[in-house]
Amino acid sequence: MPVSDFQLISAWKQVLNLSQLERGQTVTVLTGAATHPQTLACALIAAQDLGAIVNRLDLPPVNGEKAHSRDSLAYLGTTPLTGNPAAIAMLKASDLVLDLMTLLFSPEQHDILGSGTKILLAVEPPEVLVRLVPTAADRARVTAHAAKIAAAKEMHVVSAAGTDLRCRLGEFPVISEYGFVDAPGRWDHWPSGFALTFPDEGGANGTIVIDKGDILLPQKMYASDRIVLTVENGYATKIEGGIDAELLNDYMAAFEDPEALAISHIGWGLQPRARWSTLGLYDREATIGMDARAFEGNFLFSLGPNNEAGGSRTTTCHIDIPLRKCTVRLDGVDMVKEGKVLELTDTQPDTHDAR
Ligand SMILES: [Fe+2]
Repeated sequence: MPVSDFQLISAWKQVLNLSQLERGQTVTVLTGAATHPQTLACALIAAQDLGAIVNRLDLPPVNGEKAHSRDSLAYLGTTPLTGNPAAIAMLKASDLVLDLMTLLFSPEQHDILGSGTKILLAVEPPEVLVRLVPTAADRARVTAHAAKIAAAKEMHVVSAAGTDLRCRLGEFPVISEYGFVDAPGRWDHWPSGFALTFPDEGGANGTIVIDKGDILLPQKMYASDRIVLTVENGYATKIEGGIDAELLNDYMAAFEDPEALAISHIGWGLQPRARWSTLGLYDREATIGMDARAFEGNFLFSLGPNNEAGGSRTTTCHIDIPLRKCTVRLDGVDMVKEGKVLELTDTQPDTHDAR
């Protein structure tokens, strides 16, 4: 169902105010071939209404001939900024970049963030942006859970379906995604609402069972049967099951890159306004599936790169997989119990001797 320009402008203003946009600052709206016209028009109005100097930078798409779908997260690698110093200079000279194109993680993006420019990605359809517009409370909750991850040495994930995965932690930073950018050099994604980190290199071992009803992205499908991943020293060494496992194996094989099988980010969803069931209501090309990534209590893990957190793995293949009904433990303390987020007051004090 559509939303009005008034609603979307109001949502943009909320996000820009939470991002501490100040009168006289420079906002550059980054657009591409798939940018939603209403999202763009409302972003331009909201930023101008708050007194910003507003630019638009439109860049042509890349990688379309290599990607296997039109999903903007389906193929990583080079971006329209690769070898484009003029565009990089414009973004570095901006206080805030509203990325309506999907820049993705790249050396160029790190370079721009390093200059102090903030970048906010927003590519979901307008009604999803309005429904999941972030709040200060989202930030407080996500950062509180992120702090628990940052203090832990091990994440242990189990489920009745058969998941039993242990990940050593500490090598990589913890990332809070809460939907706005309130510090210089910060990147975030509206909508979101989750805390994540990456296992130490080679530090993930065990079994992951993708159960019936769990979601595969960018496939944007609910698994119709179990897929069993054997995880050894940081890599999925076997992906077994029925037709869904065959589809996943075939998709990943096309990248011809063993690094695609590395365990990438791990964490859990904390956004109560996001729903597991929403994905089933949308055409696959209408969404990138942020409801699926952020819904409260999912254990979100991924396969692929770790350069987002400063690691060296840059494979172009990236699969996000939110699992339901998992129990996630940090150093033996339950943080999510059978798919339900435990409020931090309900969890035990930090203990590091329960491994
Ligand atoms: Fe991901």
